[in-house]
Amino acid sequence: MSLNSPQSGTTTKSESANVQWGGRFAGGPSEIMMAINTSIGFDKALWRQDIRGSLAHAAMLAHVGIISPEDEAAIRAGLNEIGQEIEAGRFDFSEALEDIHMNIEARLSDRIGEAGKRLHTARSRNDQVATDFRLWVRDAIDGLDQQVASLMRALARRASEHAADPMPGFTHLQTAQPVTFGHHLMAYVEMLARDRGRLADTRRRLNECPLGSAALAGTSFPIDRRMTASALAFDRPTANSLDAVSDRDFALEYLSALSIMAMHLSRFAEEIVIWCSSPFSFIRLSDAFTTGSSIMPQKRNPDAAELVRAKTGRITGSLVGLLTVMKGLPLAYAKDMQEDKEPVFAATDAAALSLAACDGMVRDMTANTAQMRALAGSGYSTATDIADWLVRVLRVPFRTAHHVTGRLVAKAEEKGVGLAELSLADMQAEEPGITEDIYTVLSVDASIASRTSEGGTAGDNVRAQAARWLAALDNTATPDTHS
Ligand code: ARG
Repeated sequence: MSLNSPQSGTTTKSESANVQWGGRFAGGPSEIMMAINTSIGFDKALWRQDIRGSLAHAAMLAHVGIISPEDEAAIRAGLNEIGQEIEAGRFDFSEALEDIHMNIEARLSDRIGEAGKRLHTARSRNDQVATDFRLWVRDAIDGLDQQVASLMRALARRASEHAADPMPGFTHLQTAQPVTFGHHLMAYVEMLARDRGRLADTRRRLNECPLGSAALAGTSFPIDRRMTASALAFDRPTANSLDAVSDRDFALEYLSALSIMAMHLSRFAEEIVIWCSSPFSFIRLSDAFTTGSSIMPQKRNPDAAELVRAKTGRITGSLVGLLTVMKGLPLAYAKDMQEDKEPVFAATDAAALSLAACDGMVRDMTANTAQMRALAGSGYSTATDIADWLVRVLRVPFRTAHHVTGRLVAKAEEKGVGLAELSLADMQAEEPGITEDIYTVLSVDASIASRTSEGGTAGDNVRAQAARWLAALDNTATPDTHS
């Protein structure tokens, strides 16, 4: 139903009590009750996981003799057919049946009668939804992990292309020291590797099976929880039935990992916006990832990057939203927890789209290496190289070298020239020991080539880093869906 005005539906009752739990209920719920209670509109996304869970549960019930093999066979066939109906868009989802669990179970009973009504033995929707949702989040992690790997691969490839191409390195967004464009791109590979690590960690802790915890206290039936856990590829059953039905840490950890990843993607997107901006012009995106302006014909706007930056709000919002839902709930299950799904679904969609957009932009962008090189040498970016030379060659203490260099920068600024254009006499006026040799460290290329410390920006370092990552990513055998 849709509530168009605050009054609508307040007195209307639905025709009858819920067929699944209506034994004690003579009348039906009001329309408002239905509207606030129903979740089928969004939790139908769990249908595959719900059927998987029910198949495992039924097989276990038959295995331990709680239901007959014939009933199990009928349940299996019925569930598989329901799966086909949903897949084909032929399933009639009912709001009166509240959620995906009861929609599927009711349909099963319609199709196979008595046997279908035995499926819910020794379980509750509380352990059922906890299991389905864990399976869903686990599948989502696996999907996103492939996407992150693909983006890392794209970045590492572009980085090896530009391993030694200079760009200005910034701190405070002020020109600091020359770095290479490849080095800059590889920084994001490291960030994304940590994101993958956080997702893998979340998956590992998530991978325990709540099924068999029943409503909250466990069950009097002689179930085999290890059997269902392993059929659903969980590492083990959860240890405490109260915790199992009331825990949503896995969803929160997942959203935390996505929030950190989204923050990384947002920083990258912000850099793309800056790099595309005409005063910078470090890169160009093609028509595939930009839009035009309806009034200013010269414009090429990096909307995809801007929207990646903005999607972060949704993802972080989902984390904060679910933390807020959970924080006041006494053990064990409370209906509040039904509000766990939409934020997780929304964050997953936003993360998947953002990853795809970044992947596309990285493959699409062309680097304006001449422009980056020109700006890499501006803003006295090799001043640190002078200071380092004074320390290395003249054995001047670094602090003193810093002061001398500061005076040289001031002198260059005064004359309106770069450091390399200062005469030897000008240099020697500040530090008599300076020789011609100092000019060898003043070029952008010399500055970059000298940064050979582990993790530094020297071209060979960057090439090696990119190669190491490309080899490691190939070994994870994640098929590259883009090309
Ligand atoms: N749709 C519910 C949810 O997502 C399923 C669990 C309902 N359990 C209950 N005791 N009413 O949380």
